[in-house]
Parts: sequence; C-alpha cells; structure tokens
Amino acid sequence: MPMTTQDDTDDPPHAATTPDLTIRPTTRADGAAMWRLARDGGVLDLNSSYAYLLYAQDFADTCRVATLDGSVVGFVLAHRPPARPGSLFVWQVGVSPEARGRRIAARMIEDLLDSLDVETLEATVTESNTASRALFSGIAARRGAELTWREFVRGGDFPDEGHEAEPLLQIPVGH
Ligand SMILES: CC(C)(COP(=O)(O)OP(=O)(O)OC[C@H]1O[C@@H](n2cnc3c(N)ncnc32)[C@H](O)[C@@H]1OP(=O)(O)O)[C@@H](O)C(=O)NCCC(=O)NCCS
Repeated sequence: MPMTTQDDTDDPPHAATTPDLTIRPTTRADGAAMWRLARDGGVLDLNSSYAYLLYAQDFADTCRVATLDGSVVGFVLAHRPPARPGSLFVWQVGVSPEARGRRIAARMIEDLLDSLDVETLEATVTESNTASRALFSGIAARRGAELTWREFVRGGDFPDEGHEAEPLLQIPVGH
C-alpha cells in the first residue's frame, strides 16, 4: 500500500505528470484546497474542512489531487469500504469550473485504478448530475465494462431536507 508521510515537504510516493498537469496522492496540506474546491464548485455537498484534511492525510492512497502549475484544480475523495474490500468507493470528485472538460476527473480516477488492486469502481451519483453520470459512463465504456446500478442511500434516509437519492453505480475494473 502506498505510504504518505505526515511531512508535507516529502515527495508523494506516486505521481502521474504531463507538462502542465500533475495527478498525485494527497497530503494533509491538500485538504484545505479540496474543501475550497468542493465549496466553490456549486454542486457537491460540502463536508466539514476536517473531513477533507482527514481523508487527504489518512486515505492518501485512495485520494488524488490534480494540480495545474502547482495549484490544486481537482480532487477525488475515495476509500475502500471495509465491507467491500475489493471496491474503490469514490465519494466526491470535483474539478474547478475553469479546468473542466479536459478529462482531469477521468484521469484522476484512472490514476487511482492504475495504482490500486481493486475489482470494482463504485460511486453514488444523483439522477440529475449529468456531468458525473457522463464521467463514470465514459470510464466504463473505455474499459468495455458494464455499469450497473443498485439502491444505496434513499432520499428519505437523509435527516435534512432536499436530498436526492444516491444510487450506487458499480463498474468491474479487475485486471
Ligand atoms: C463532474 C466533474 C468532476 C467532471 O470533471 P471534468 O474534469 O470536467 O470531467 P472530464 O473532462 O473527465 O469528463 C468526463 C466525461 O464526462 C463528460 N462531461 C463532462 N462534463 C459534462 C457535462 N457538463 N455534461 C455532459 N457531459 C460532460 C465528458 O465529455 C467526458 O466524457 P467522455 O469520457 O465520454 O469523453 C466536474 O464537472 C465537477 O466538478 N462537477 C461539480 C462536482 C460534481 O458534480 N462532482 C460529481 C459528484 S461526486
């Protein structure tokens, strides 16, 4: 399992780089930028800032940031659910509005799949989130894999008003 140190000055253990774009595992120092992207993107449920810091530090092997010229322009918040250890569950993906449409989200997820030994890619996507549905359909199509849906978290499960259901999509990604 890739290791992330608590020392923010250390190089990340793995990084996919093109001339202007870098995709790499997170460090605690990325948590603040991830929180800002989620806050400013206009679509995602904003978690507490501590949640992003915690994932960035303690789930670094299953999280990614994308940087353009050193600035964080995208992130993936993901983990391996203990009940489904062969799965990678993508909780949130966010790309800054000005950086969208460059396959940054897809490349962050592909980078995770390249570095992890997982059989299934999972995410929940609300019915109205066209961009996110296109993102995961594209990943499935490029792999020639069938994307399937099942009930997961229902609208009525949320204690606060106005949440759409969060059905679970699953894509087989085993090598
Ligand atoms: C969803 C999101 C992360 C996609 O980021 P992105 O880097 O622009 O996505 P990509 O460029 O990798 O596009 C992936 C696919 O989705 C398609 N797509 C992207 N935005 C789209 C849109 N607004 N409408 C329709 N399709 C869209 C692309 O054409 C691409 O399709 P392909 O794989 O067949 O070529 C970004 O729009 C975002 O941050 N949205 C707000 C937060 C959010 O909704 N997150 C997802 C819920 S967890």
